[in-house]
Amino acid sequence: MKVLFVVSEVYPFMKTGGLADVAYALPKALRKLGIDIRVIMPNYVSIPSKYKERMQKVSEFTVPVGWRNQYAGLLYLEEDGVPFYFIDNEYYFKRNEGAYGYYDDGERFVYFSNGVLEAIKHMGDFKPDIIHCNDWHTAIIPVLLKENYIFDDIYKNIKTIFTIHNLKYQGIFGKEVLGQLLNLGENYFSEDKLKYYDGISFMKGGIIFSDVVTTVSSTYAEEIKTSYYGEGLHGLLNEISYKLYGITNGIDYDLFNPRYDKEIYFNYDENSSSDKLKNKDQLQKRLGLCEKVDIPMIGIVSRLVGQKGIDLIDNVMEELINLDIQLVILGTGESRFEEMFKYYAGTYPNKVSANIFFSNELAQKVYAASDIFLMPSQFEPCGIGQLIAMRYGSIPIVRETGGLKDTVHPYNEYTGEGNGFSFANYNAQDMLYTIKRSIDFYYKKDIWNNLINKSMREDNSWKKSANMYIDLYDKLIWRN
Ligand code: GLC
Repeated sequence: MKVLFVVSEVYPFMKTGGLADVAYALPKALRKLGIDIRVIMPNYVSIPSKYKERMQKVSEFTVPVGWRNQYAGLLYLEEDGVPFYFIDNEYYFKRNEGAYGYYDDGERFVYFSNGVLEAIKHMGDFKPDIIHCNDWHTAIIPVLLKENYIFDDIYKNIKTIFTIHNLKYQGIFGKEVLGQLLNLGENYFSEDKLKYYDGISFMKGGIIFSDVVTTVSSTYAEEIKTSYYGEGLHGLLNEISYKLYGITNGIDYDLFNPRYDKEIYFNYDENSSSDKLKNKDQLQKRLGLCEKVDIPMIGIVSRLVGQKGIDLIDNVMEELINLDIQLVILGTGESRFEEMFKYYAGTYPNKVSANIFFSNELAQKVYAASDIFLMPSQFEPCGIGQLIAMRYGSIPIVRETGGLKDTVHPYNEYTGEGNGFSFANYNAQDMLYTIKRSIDFYYKKDIWNNLINKSMREDNSWKKSANMYIDLYDKLIWRN
């Protein structure tokens, strides 16, 4: 079985969020299970040079973008046992900052999508049975395949699967994009195709035109069929629910392992979890927090945006400060949240540490040092932070939504069940109550150690979920 996994970002080449972690770990897990899966992404200028130096040119060709033909180079590199292809074009991908957010993102990802389809002619023996697309940047591929490529023998039998990592970002553009970039007729501006209010939605195209749609947890797969979470597509998602599956993400257990992690101060595992405290001690020193090991440290590693529930925290910040806790924040996002955290860190430097940047190294230290990991998301397709936190024995407090609900089960003091804490309504007081409740248990050392132990032993590796993808791939191919 041959699968081409198409994605706009992959760790360690380019990462802006959890998508990049999945795009690294899932193909790696699938290859271990014997699937010939290869990954293709844009050759961004900012990919570190140590990888660029190892890339080999496979081929050159042209890619249609509207009435123009643009150059493409196809580059190749193997990393951690996974073959990667890169579509090279400086005009589109030589930009200084990050992967997205440019005025011509629509054109850039139409170019990339057509580039991927053209590249399939240049991959030698590797003729994919399945193209696996991810998020809006690649959602137009199933549309273009069915409209422009399917008549060619190489493409005739290719099946498509589209994974939604976040329904909120749809790739919405003016309808002129149909003719100017996509070479699609006016008839695509209709409710059963790409039309989305006055424009067109690439995400909608991916949902309608791919053979199977997946999303990254079973709860989110249900939630997006409702108007609250459906981003205007809930009607459609109900209609296509016969081909919609929720498969919960895992994390890479080699990459995220407190026993071997080189970024943390002291390594530990579930049998030596008391060494976790040494990490806390060191991090308190580094961040200038009060050096006392018996204060619960709450970690937040997150983009500081509405989706992540930061406004709930904002709402009860004063009350939080009054508790005997330490708060460590790492991440960037909306300036109102960045400023808010900076203000509290400035006013209470012993209690609050606001690290308004992103650093992999510090992130690992926060997972290892913190006692509690706070993730009160408004919506969360899967969430990766809570999975890493559990692996490092930091007990998650989450709102019961999406993947958070599927992976964190609230502690029940009567039965001893559960691996974390959670609250149902998107409400700051409920969150505050849950934080207080968790702190009560933090001081009951038997219970707390038990929780640490349990969460560290959870299996959130990719093994189970990778097998679920294989079942889906199998089904798709068997339908022929
Ligand atoms: C997006 C979602 C997040 C998910 C990730 C990987 O970033 O917001 O919940 O974990 O994609 O699928």
